[in-house]
Amino acid sequence: MSKLLFDPSETLLSFDSYQKSDGFKALACVLKMKPEDVIKEIQDSKLVGRGGAGFPVGIKMSSVLSEKDGPKYIVCNADEGEPGTFKDRELLKRNSMKVLESMVIAAYAIGASKGYLYVRGEYNFLKDQILNQLDDMRKNHYLGDDILGSGYDFDIEYRSGIGAYICGEETALIESIEGRSGDPRVKPPYTASKGLWNKPTLIHNVETLINILPIMNYGADYYKQFGTEKSTGTKLFSVSGSIKNKGVYEVPFGTTLNKLLDLCGGPTGRIKFVQIGGSSGIVLSKDQLDIELSHEAFEKINAGLGSGAVYVADESVCIIDFLNATAAFFRHESCGKCTPCREGNRHIEKILASFKEGQGKLEDIDVLLRTSKVMKEASFCGLGQTATSALSSAIEVFKEEFIEHIEGKCRTGVCKIGGLSHES
Ligand SMILES: Cc1cc2nc3c(=O)[nH]c(=O)nc-3n(C[C@H](O)[C@H](O)[C@H](O)COP(=O)(O)O)c2cc1C
Ligand code: SF4
Repeated sequence: MSKLLFDPSETLLSFDSYQKSDGFKALACVLKMKPEDVIKEIQDSKLVGRGGAGFPVGIKMSSVLSEKDGPKYIVCNADEGEPGTFKDRELLKRNSMKVLESMVIAAYAIGASKGYLYVRGEYNFLKDQILNQLDDMRKNHYLGDDILGSGYDFDIEYRSGIGAYICGEETALIESIEGRSGDPRVKPPYTASKGLWNKPTLIHNVETLINILPIMNYGADYYKQFGTEKSTGTKLFSVSGSIKNKGVYEVPFGTTLNKLLDLCGGPTGRIKFVQIGGSSGIVLSKDQLDIELSHEAFEKINAGLGSGAVYVADESVCIIDFLNATAAFFRHESCGKCTPCREGNRHIEKILASFKEGQGKLEDIDVLLRTSKVMKEASFCGLGQTATSALSSAIEVFKEEFIEHIEGKCRTGVCKIGGLSHES
């Protein structure tokens, strides 16, 4: 069995159907355990976060548990704003009961009294479904005071985002829940000690939390059979672009990118590049597709798996046009708080637009690389730090196409240089 989390044929929406299919079994078991033992099992599983940074979940949980201040909070980050990422939407659409059960388990482990499920505004079609499920959980004593007679009190509130990509960043998300605009906070202090209302807070991605169920149901040793030594378990990938069967795929960490693309039915045209991790991810050339999908393999090339978005581009995609659209996205989504990100994105977009018009200069390539470096090193938060990952990796692989644009030629015909399309 290679599927731990996601069965596309399974949709468990009603409280009754969930309960009948062993729902809440893990929670009932956990409520009889000591919080430290729950965290130990999660630590032993070597589960790491699926929201982008890949930080060990057990370490985060023990930090929150060890905090003396209270009340404590848990937040499920379902903002899912990374372009090309739609795995959390599928998990919530088909299996939100699992997400809610995992939230209660994680909350019990750290001693949280209140939880927030922060859902991307565009997913508001899920709101009624989730609110009904929360009501059913309350009626059946899986939420509220004295959960299942354990003496533990906990409840969950649904919060909706309103379309800002930055609100997926954990401290901006906290600001948003507190009722302010989503400006990232300085770190440290980390959210584990000073999160919501400056109280200890555990924030995890939807997919991270849902992984707690197989760990608690089958044990850490079982869980570790999946994946690699350092990247345990399975990973959901949202696959889109020039690929036969677009969708969410679950594969064990360590599967090669080529194998994943085969599972999706293969590309629809000749692959030019694949972008991993959404707009903030690197681009891989067609010669790099045998890379293993694991944290350690991506660390070796100074990159990350990010949110697990996989965008396949065929040869009809112009790399300059693609990067220009990426820069426009980050310029639009930058909160404007710090100069490297606010001005850097604007500057990069302007230069790339000039390449699209055949006005680029050779020295601009250096300017793009230097601006990327400054943004990576000096931006205040992850948005600015990763906004140019695609750009810097693409300059390495596709420098020739930059030069061609300087010479007035776009091999794909996408850029109408001088008002004309110049296909080779
Ligand atoms: C600009 C930006 C946007 C982010 N968006 C999301 C998001 O939509 N969902 C998510 O889970 N994490 C997102 N993150 C990562 C969160 O800050 C945080 O690391 C994550 O929620 C922690 O959960 P995890 O430990 O389960 O990975 C984003 C980070 C940045 C910098
Ligand atoms: S890096 Fe960008 S999004 Fe983050 S604080 Fe600076 S301006 Fe705002």
